[in-house]
Amino acid sequence: MTDLLISRPEDGVLALRLNRPKARNALSIGLLGEIRAALDAARDDDSVRAVVLSGDETAFSAGADIKEMPSGGIPMWGQRDRLLAWKTIERFPKPLLAAVEGFALGGGCELCLLCDMVIASDTARFGQPEIRIGAFPGDGGTQRLPRAIGKSRALWMMMTGNTIDARTAAEWGLATERVPAGRALARAVDIARDITQMSPIAIGMIKEEVLMTYGKPLDESLSLERKLLLWQTEDHDEGIAAFTEKRKPVYKGR
Ligand code: CAA
Repeated sequence: MTDLLISRPEDGVLALRLNRPKARNALSIGLLGEIRAALDAARDDDSVRAVVLSGDETAFSAGADIKEMPSGGIPMWGQRDRLLAWKTIERFPKPLLAAVEGFALGGGCELCLLCDMVIASDTARFGQPEIRIGAFPGDGGTQRLPRAIGKSRALWMMMTGNTIDARTAAEWGLATERVPAGRALARAVDIARDITQMSPIAIGMIKEEVLMTYGKPLDESLSLERKLLLWQTEDHDEGIAAFTEKRKPVYKGR
C-alpha cells in the first residue's frame, strides 16, 4: 500500500492524503519522496489548479520519522532526498492548502507553514516538540514559525515543545480558519474550488509575489512587483471584458 493516496483531480483540485496511520503519518523519507513526485506531476498538469494535503482524523502528521533517525553519523535531516522533497514543496507554484485534523507536530507543523492556507479542525494540535528529543525544527520551522506567529510565541513553542489548539492557531495566524471536527478537508476543498474559478496565471503571480516577502528586501520585491504588473494576459483582458459585459469570466490560463 502506498504512503500517499492521490485522488484524480476533481474540478481542478487534487487531493493528497498522507497514509501512514500507524506512524501518525510521520514524514518518512519514502513518504516525502511520494509527496515530491506527486507535486512535480501536479505542477506540470494543467488540469490541476490547486492541491489539498490532508492526513486522517488522528493526525495530519507527527513530523519527521523518529525511527529513521540514526543515533550517530550524518543526521537523517540532511539526507539529499529529504532536502529535495522539502524544496519541491517550498517551490510548488500552485495553491497548496493543508486540511488539519489531529496532530500537526514537528515536520507536520513545518509542512503547514509551507502551505498557502491551513484549515484546522477543532481536534487539531500544532507544535514543534523537537526539543523533547534534543533537537530543533530543522525543516524551516526556526525561520518560518516566527514569521508566521512572531518571535516570542514561536520561541515558546520551540523551547517548551508545548502544543496549541486550533482556536489559538487561528488567533495567532498559523491557521487560516478553524472548523468543526471532521470538516477540515471539505472546507479546504471548497476554498480550493473557489480559487480554481480565478485566472491561474494571476493566482500564480499572487503566490510568487507574496512569497518574495520571505526572500527579498522590501525595495527589491516592490520593484519586482511593479515589473510583474506590466505583464498583460488574455485572462486579464477576459476579466475586464466579463466585468463590463456583466457575465462570468472564462479564464484560459493564457
Ligand atoms: N516518527 C515515527 N513514529 C511515530 C512518530 C514519529 N514522528 N510519531 C508517532 N509515531 C508512532 C509511535 O512510535 C507509535 O508507533 P508504535 O505503535 O509502533 O509504538 C505510533 O506512531 C502511535 O504513536 P503513539 O502511541 O505515541 O500515539 P498517541 O496518539 O498516543 O500520540 C503523538 C501521538 C502525540 C503524535 C506522539 O506519537 C508523539 O509525540 N510523536 C512524536 C512527535 C514528534 O516528536 N515529532 C517531531 C519529530 S522530529 C521532526 O519533525 C524533525 C524536524 O523538524 C527536522
